[in-house]
Amino acid sequence: MKHLLSAKDLAHDEAVMVLDTAEAMAATQRHAVKKLPTLRGKTIVNLFFEDSTRTRLSFEAAAKRLSADVINFSAKGSSVSKGESLKDTAQTIMAMGADAVVIRHSACGAAHLLAHAGWIDVPVLNAGDGTHQHPTQALLDAMTLRRWYAPDGTAADGSPAPRGRDLGGAKVIIVGDVLHSRVARSNVDLMTALGAHVTLVAPPTLLPVGMDDWTCDVSFDLDEALETVQPDAVMMLRVQRERMSAAGGGFFPSPAEYSQAYGLNLARRAVMPEHAIVMHPGPMNRGLEITAEAADDPRSRVIEQVGNGVSVRMAALYLLLADEGNQL
Ligand code: NCD
Repeated sequence: MKHLLSAKDLAHDEAVMVLDTAEAMAATQRHAVKKLPTLRGKTIVNLFFEDSTRTRLSFEAAAKRLSADVINFSAKGSSVSKGESLKDTAQTIMAMGADAVVIRHSACGAAHLLAHAGWIDVPVLNAGDGTHQHPTQALLDAMTLRRWYAPDGTAADGSPAPRGRDLGGAKVIIVGDVLHSRVARSNVDLMTALGAHVTLVAPPTLLPVGMDDWTCDVSFDLDEALETVQPDAVMMLRVQRERMSAAGGGFFPSPAEYSQAYGLNLARRAVMPEHAIVMHPGPMNRGLEITAEAADDPRSRVIEQVGNGVSVRMAALYLLLADEGNQL
């Protein structure tokens, strides 16, 4: 694979290989000197046309820990506001000698276009394109769940169930604004490729039309899903208000009603199996899709997810760019 554009492109063994590489990267991050010489002399360009905190910072940290040079581009304050096209922006960046491009864009398919339009000839890593895909987020979520779920080949509750190196048998519930979420799409693709069973829970207004080819179950009732699925992990999605207001609003009656029906609180946390973890890609709307108490609960893995994001992005950059040749 030359690029990392979609979680759908990762077959089971490739996904396991990226996760194993990410674990190897994480091990190096426990050393006093965190920097590896692997990508010395290479230049990574981060092209961010949409806001980001975690993804942008962790791609930058990952590239720097591998000794690459990093050029950060953010659409705000650039010539994009003067009407410059993606093509001209990309070619300008290439003229500066990029060896890989990380792109986040509000348009679905932007990363694919950049990779295949023939404007540039270096690996492209998709850091989120509209409501479509966010493959490194799915990888860091899978890394987080795999660590917890099968750290040594046994289930998290200690039962002697050999799980192998994937997520075979894990039950995951993803809750909330699925309609606008590239994180949900990417996680359904990747987690099911790794053997997990995913249930999406959302109000009907926040589910996309035409989900026939989605490899997951769908429920409108969070309390019922928590009871019947008995999940190993519950992933809460951010209510994407910026995309809702662009569409004219009206996706749910009021924030209070949304929280009541679909928010994670300690009462719902108590219904989950004791071993189950809570995940959220961030940024969290505390008080809307998750209460502060549930976000800060000992079973919350939100901060661990951010740390794993650096390891996964180091792995992706390494596998696509290291001198040994493209290994993805
Ligand atoms: C997600 C994103 O940007 O898609 N956040 C992230 O990458 N950490 C989810 C979100 O914005 O809700």
